[in-house]
Amino acid sequence: MKWILTLIISLTALPHGAFSADKPLEIDAKSFGCMLDMTPVRGFYVDNLIPGELDKTVAAANAEKTVYPAGSVVQLVPDEVMVKRQSGFNSATKDWEFFELNVNQEGSQINKRGFVDVVNRFGGNCFGCHIKAKPEFDMVCENSHGCDPIAIPRPIITLLQKTDARCGGRYTPQPQEIEMLKQFKAAIAAQMAKDK
Ligand code: HEC
Repeated sequence: MKWILTLIISLTALPHGAFSADKPLEIDAKSFGCMLDMTPVRGFYVDNLIPGELDKTVAAANAEKTVYPAGSVVQLVPDEVMVKRQSGFNSATKDWEFFELNVNQEGSQINKRGFVDVVNRFGGNCFGCHIKAKPEFDMVCENSHGCDPIAIPRPIITLLQKTDARCGGRYTPQPQEIEMLKQFKAAIAAQMAKDK
């Protein structure tokens, strides 16, 4: 009898279907939420869509030479996301899928998603920049991995993170921060109008 019990216990301890790392990831707008609920690493944020796998993503983010595990979500600003798909999903992008979101108090909407061809609202191809990261960083750029820099100053990046519309207003920006954001958004709008 004892072996039957052991068998039942070990079977129920196996990863449950929906939570298995082998099952294809289903990613929709609901996969993305308040950035501040993710785990901060050196100024960007990580998560993992597969329950129980976050530790592996954090370890990957802190490793000197890294390959992020499947399910990893990486974000610097609220509306641009990279998600690591299962191994072999897309060899060109090293299995990263790129997303551009629209976010507001209600949540996220997926504006664009895909692999080598996703272009952000500033006309920049995600893959085109991120592929320039040295191979040991698995396409994660940060500010020292070899990618062309982005035009958003660090204080603005931090402010965009803290004021993510999906976070229920948990950070109240100072008047000068509101002004900074306003000026940044106006500069972006002017740049985009010029590019048209
Ligand atoms: C002009 C080049 C460029 C383009 C275009 C670009 N990125 Fe990045 N991205 C960067 C750089 C550089 C960083 C790191 C900035 C820093 O930490 O100061 C970064 C940071 C990120 C991060 C945080 C992790 C990391 O790599 O440091 C994510 C996630 C990300 N970008 C996603 C995207 C997505 C999705 C798109 C397209 C919708 C995109 N990026 C377009 C250059 C670019």
